[in-house]
Amino acid sequence: MTGARQHLHAIETQDIWVAELPDGVLAGFLSAEQVDNQLHIQELSVSQPFQGQGIGRKLLLAAIEYSRERELDGLTLTTFRDVPWNAPFYQRSGFETLSAAETSPRLLAILRQEIDHGLPEERRCAMWLRLL
Ligand SMILES: CC(C)(COP(=O)(O)OP(=O)(O)OC[C@H]1O[C@@H](n2cnc3c(N)ncnc32)[C@H](O)[C@@H]1OP(=O)(O)O)[C@@H](O)C(=O)NCCC(=O)NCCS
Repeated sequence: MTGARQHLHAIETQDIWVAELPDGVLAGFLSAEQVDNQLHIQELSVSQPFQGQGIGRKLLLAAIEYSRERELDGLTLTTFRDVPWNAPFYQRSGFETLSAAETSPRLLAILRQEIDHGLPEERRCAMWLRLL
């Protein structure tokens, strides 16, 4: 499943936050899936003209707040280690980068799938924000 169909499926089955501007323009979204007692962030994306205005941070904070309210153990994600608005941004929001030994089989499988799809292994990492 790709593109629009994948997003429609996610809207029907997952936790999704959408950033809507006062004029109704959709500026970005965060899609996530609850696995066990954790919220896994699958995608955080802000449309280019609206980047750098705090929308990405607000979407992330909404997902963190939601996870707190649901008393989840924490949030997970995979991202690029070296892109300034990826791992360093999540670190500033409280996420920790997991070493290979600390990475759960579920997250290792996601990383493996990303690498199989062509992403560079040395640049990808799994991260975790502990809530409980
Ligand atoms: C990552 C992304 C969602 C951030 O959304 P945004 O609305 O631009 O982000 P914000 O304005 O809320 O800023 C978030 C952080 O990224 C940093 N950042 C944003 N753009 C940046 C840039 N061009 N260079 C360096 N840092 C940047 C900000 O400093 C901010 O950190 P801070 O709040 O700790 O200061 C957006 O840039 C994007 O969609 N990028 C492409 C897709 C992507 O990389 N998604 C994440 C995959 S895990």
